[in-house]
Amino acid sequence: MSKYAISIMGAVNSVLKALLKQSRILYPLRKYSSNIARPPSLELPSGQKMPQFGIGTWQLTSENEINTTINTALTVGYRHIDTAIMYDNEEFIGNVLQQWISSNKLSRDDLFITTKLPKIGVHPDRVEMFLTRSLKNLQLDYVDLYLIHFPVGFKYIPNMNGRYATDLKGRVVMEEKTDHAAIWRKMEEQVEANRTKNIGLSNYNIPQMTTVLESARIKPANLQVEIHIFFNQDHLVDFCKKNGITVTAYSPLANPGYNKFMKKLEKPATHLPKIFLNTQVIELGKKYSKTPAQIALRFLLQRGLATIPKSATPKRIEENINVFDFVLTDDEMKMLHKLEMGDLARVVDFTVYQGIYHHPDFPF
Ligand SMILES: NC(=O)c1ccc[n+]([C@@H]2O[C@H](COP(=O)([O-])OP(=O)(O)OC[C@H]3O[C@@H](n4cnc5c(N)ncnc54)[C@H](OP(=O)(O)O)[C@@H]3O)[C@@H](O)[C@H]2O)c1
Repeated sequence: MSKYAISIMGAVNSVLKALLKQSRILYPLRKYSSNIARPPSLELPSGQKMPQFGIGTWQLTSENEINTTINTALTVGYRHIDTAIMYDNEEFIGNVLQQWISSNKLSRDDLFITTKLPKIGVHPDRVEMFLTRSLKNLQLDYVDLYLIHFPVGFKYIPNMNGRYATDLKGRVVMEEKTDHAAIWRKMEEQVEANRTKNIGLSNYNIPQMTTVLESARIKPANLQVEIHIFFNQDHLVDFCKKNGITVTAYSPLANPGYNKFMKKLEKPATHLPKIFLNTQVIELGKKYSKTPAQIALRFLLQRGLATIPKSATPKRIEENINVFDFVLTDDEMKMLHKLEMGDLARVVDFTVYQGIYHHPDFPF
């Protein structure tokens, strides 16, 4: 082939690549609601950017719900998806992601996917196995963030289809003690093997994070914990800020649907703090023409946190991300901060797992 022909082919190739890239960018842009500003990102220690706003998926286990939730979320501008092998929905999420990627509506780089090591995986021998399983479920080569879901390990029994074992009294059979340093080393190996871009922790307390930091070659990039207007977790957030760890607020709306989960487990309903009924939140909503949910989410974002509200309702999915066109004043931030109720306001305390409260690594 002549030099001339090769250079023409090269030029055609570049134009095609540029067009493909443009179609990937333009297609989803056309589908964004015009009034929603794009969420900003937080920079992780790896240099990668994590969109500050994501969609939570806990308690979404049907294929229909996942299809509606993830398709709506991606269409209105979410790029950060939070799941866990425990949520039993990775395969459905993987199918939706595959459809968006294979049709060039989005590229893999546009997405930020978080999943988590389950409690039955909290052991140095099982980190790789569970992450590999999650990647297969999600049809991905890597995730963006892999978190240790909880600092307590449950005994793993093969062929129990991911379920944990209980004793005759219904108590969960747990590992005796968590070797945080050894597990973290295995997490680091997952970054080195390119199975995840970043690693982090969830539901860890300060002493447990300190143990991890003391031995870490790769620092935790993120801590995911419950935080909302009634439960600020200032000490944890300050500790993370000092150590360059980003923080993601889960249950940012104090999960008003939590008692549905309790009912499913045949457990008694618990008292929930109610953000949507708080008069100060309602008044601020009127001032800014926003819903109480939007005020509560905006408060977290202005604290510099990432957040991942869950909804299976398209209108709410869009409502929740529509929080980038107003700013709470310093006085309003202070007023909302004073709604703190401390540990009483914790919704997700994990005590549905019988016996977990007495484990030496129980973090709360
Ligand atoms: N790492 C962990 O251990 C951990 C623990 C808990 C949660 N998480 C993650 O964090 C995510 C969010 O937390 P979460 O699911 O516990 O609670 P959440 O996001 O605070 O609340 C979810 C509940 O709020 C309702 N909701 C959402 N937007 C609303 C709105 N604008 N107006 C009224 N109601 C609204 C939803 O109802 P509909 O769905 O019916 O709309 C659902 O019942 C989870 O999905 C999960 O991804 C992680």
